[in-house]
Amino acid sequence: MYKIISKRPLNAAGTTIEMVVEAPLVARKCLPGQFIIFRVDEFGERVPLTIADYDREKGTVTIMFQPVGRSTMLLNQLEAGDELADFVGPLGKPSNMEGLKRVAVVGGGVGCAIAYPVAKGMHAKGIEVDMIAGFRSKDIVMLEDEMRAACTNLYVCTDDGTYGEKGFVTDKLKSLIEGGRQYDEVVAIGPGVMMKFVAKATAPYNIKTVVSLNPIMIDGTGMCSCCRVTVGGEMKFACVDGPEFDGQLVDWDELLRRGAFYKEEETAQKEHICKLTGGVRRG
Ligand code: FES
Repeated sequence: MYKIISKRPLNAAGTTIEMVVEAPLVARKCLPGQFIIFRVDEFGERVPLTIADYDREKGTVTIMFQPVGRSTMLLNQLEAGDELADFVGPLGKPSNMEGLKRVAVVGGGVGCAIAYPVAKGMHAKGIEVDMIAGFRSKDIVMLEDEMRAACTNLYVCTDDGTYGEKGFVTDKLKSLIEGGRQYDEVVAIGPGVMMKFVAKATAPYNIKTVVSLNPIMIDGTGMCSCCRVTVGGEMKFACVDGPEFDGQLVDWDELLRRGAFYKEEETAQKEHICKLTGGVRRG
């Protein structure tokens, strides 16, 4: 069993939650870019979550999540002192940092929870990191102090201009590049559409752009096929071959089309369950 040491909301709206979990074996080996799979109890489904932080001495691992589906809602019902049935990891390939001197790390919304440990790991290795964090509005801005401490320069943007600079992360990235910043690599983590447009924005400048496809994983074990993606004409699995890939080689149209299809299916299933249960939606 894996004890929850602490729990807190990460933004004013309470849409993203941070949990610190006692998991010494995971904490001993994990690296930025990797993920764990948890099960709330023995009947729970397996859910992958990125390792947001870790403390090797205390033997703890930090996860961040949005309670939007059944399992993450069940996870959110637990409090400090409660225990998880499973907490397996580290899984996936760690972020590549070799030979990098200056990098832009771009996070979108809850993707900042995944981008933050990558920026932190790079910064700790002496890499100069410009971090661009984008949110829809002020009430969902999170991890600002942590991100500021984990990079050289932090730029916070909101779509509606209620906090930081008004505009999209792609606008800020382009203005930095056109202003003379030279990056060995750009790392983009967030919604699929955002990652697609970051990869498009950097292509004319020939800047390698790495994206994390962690958000498309379902069971994280290579068995459900939900995370398959075409990269450079080859079929890959985010949970086995990734989760990081060259964003300029990803077939975004196929990936986004399949994501929209899954969403439609999920909505139809929820409505069906709603009818069967007389209007009570679960998960
Ligand atoms: Fe199921 Fe990768 S998440 S196969």
